[in-house]
Amino acid sequence: CGIVGYIGPRNGKDVVVGGLAKLEYRGYDSAGVAALADGNIRIVKAVGRLANLEEKLAEMPLSGQVAIGHTRWATHGKPSDENAHPHQDCSGRFAIVHNGIVENYLSLRDELIALGHEFRSETDTEVVAHLIEEMYNGDLFETMIAVGKRIRGAYALVVMGKDHPDELVAIRRASPMIIGLGEKENFVASDIPAILEYTRDIYVMEDGEMAVLRRDGVECFNMDGEPVKKEVYHVTWDAVSAERGGYPHFMLKEIHEQPRAVRDTLRGRVSEDFSRVELPELGLSDEDLRAIDRIHIVACGTSWHAGLVGKAAIEAFARIPVNVEIASEYRYANPIVTDRTLVIAITQSGETADTLAAMREMKKRGVRVVAITNVVGSSAAREADSTIITWAGPEIAVASTKAYTTQLVALYLLAVRLGMSRQTLTADEAREVLTGLDNLPQVVEQVLDTAPQIESFAKRYKDAHDTFFIGRGIDYAVSLEGALKLKEISYIHAEAYAAGELKHGTLALITDGVPVIALAMQPELYEKTLSNIVEVKARGAFVLGLTWVGNEDLEKTVDEVIYLPKTLPLLAPVAAVIPLQLLAYYAAVARGNDVDKPRNLAKSVTVE
Ligand code: G6P
Repeated sequence: CGIVGYIGPRNGKDVVVGGLAKLEYRGYDSAGVAALADGNIRIVKAVGRLANLEEKLAEMPLSGQVAIGHTRWATHGKPSDENAHPHQDCSGRFAIVHNGIVENYLSLRDELIALGHEFRSETDTEVVAHLIEEMYNGDLFETMIAVGKRIRGAYALVVMGKDHPDELVAIRRASPMIIGLGEKENFVASDIPAILEYTRDIYVMEDGEMAVLRRDGVECFNMDGEPVKKEVYHVTWDAVSAERGGYPHFMLKEIHEQPRAVRDTLRGRVSEDFSRVELPELGLSDEDLRAIDRIHIVACGTSWHAGLVGKAAIEAFARIPVNVEIASEYRYANPIVTDRTLVIAITQSGETADTLAAMREMKKRGVRVVAITNVVGSSAAREADSTIITWAGPEIAVASTKAYTTQLVALYLLAVRLGMSRQTLTADEAREVLTGLDNLPQVVEQVLDTAPQIESFAKRYKDAHDTFFIGRGIDYAVSLEGALKLKEISYIHAEAYAAGELKHGTLALITDGVPVIALAMQPELYEKTLSNIVEVKARGAFVLGLTWVGNEDLEKTVDEVIYLPKTLPLLAPVAAVIPLQLLAYYAAVARGNDVDKPRNLAKSVTVE
């Protein structure tokens, strides 16, 4: 989502809508703006693109020098006028915009309903508006300190009050937020591009900070209301690279967002003592889960590759047989399903025609369908019986990166949930997996440090005609994703092979200097993979190996090694895919390709 807030001499609505337009690249499903004039807050919202809001504003002009606005990427509640921000309390004294997720919104909502509050939307944000009304003591800043202590989760919030024409209060936990410093005017936004037209001097709000914006200045505080001193940061990026958070391409930005995306996808879904997975959105009881006797995972492209890892996790933890099917094949294959089959449709966009067609076919046959998607309110989310959302945030680059890693996280969570309900996974085993999942954001962070090494390899091998990605077990599943990434954006021919299968034909293609990327992330399969690596080495391949830190043994055989932090073997794909994403990225850049928009491909394929 995007947030913009303004206080100063201009018409606030114009600044806010202009700022929201700069965030349009993030994609959104609804937008809204609130302005304060003559002691009244007025709000205009519209579902759909920002142009719809602008049309409405042309008919219902807003004035006022204090304004806040929001573009929404739906989290709780479908895209609609009611669910669009800003949200208000019952009396209309306050208006708020929010990015993030309020984790304890259900219990707060019950509490507030019991106190007589009436809710208009399905969002987690609206509870905050009512909570402000409930806790208000005449001082907006103090009220927000108190509110901050009641809400859990991730948020960037900006609040205006009708009796507070001279201030905006902003509060941040986990979700990004910046303050723009002007002359007799100040700005707050989720992202720098929104305000770059007006100022290049900003404060970057840190986790757990609050700010009070007035026309003539901005003060920052910690969550207890104690002042904090901020350094002014001067933005030197141009507007275009600001959209990409300073990265040259969206793909690289999205690769680097993965620690955050993984953390957000886990957020609120693992109990604090690592004993349980919370997926109430599944709408399935332990008994329902025990009744499942086979699973079909259906997807396309990168999502299908995530499914292959999902199969391994579900079979390991829950001992349910899983088939992973390409959606365009599945729907015509007359699959064998019963009322005990569960279909899991994985789709980042939620709009892929082949996947939707397969879902519809299964629903027609009375099979339960769970969707794993990144887009709330997408067709897949609407049509599935239940949906697990991945919180990767909008993915702009055509080549999928953070969607894949968050799909893996969703699948691991589902696999543990299934395993626990069926008692095929003990409490101790579950705790080990959940602790391992919790640690993944840090692991991903460390893997990103391998970027310079991969960039150098990519530059040396950018003119290769053929490359091979090999691995066994789930390393093979990751190899498929690595090869797809390389093909998609660098246009270098790449093939993934189950390492043990090479000798049955493909080995004939291995000649002097052919690059082979060998994944050796599974200790149990290490020896076997190693012998396959020896086979390609013997034919002259240049081998780049991926293995866990501490396994220096691989250096004896391959030409170059990338070491990745050790995880549970089943979780290794989240780490191992990242060097492969970077490899594709740097190879494409070295070849001068249009990384974010590769030829012939589309982000969301809505034709069959
Ligand atoms: C297109 C994209 C791929 C994506 C696939 C499935 O081919 O270019 O990156 O993996 O569609 O998309 P979905 O949105 O269903 O995950």
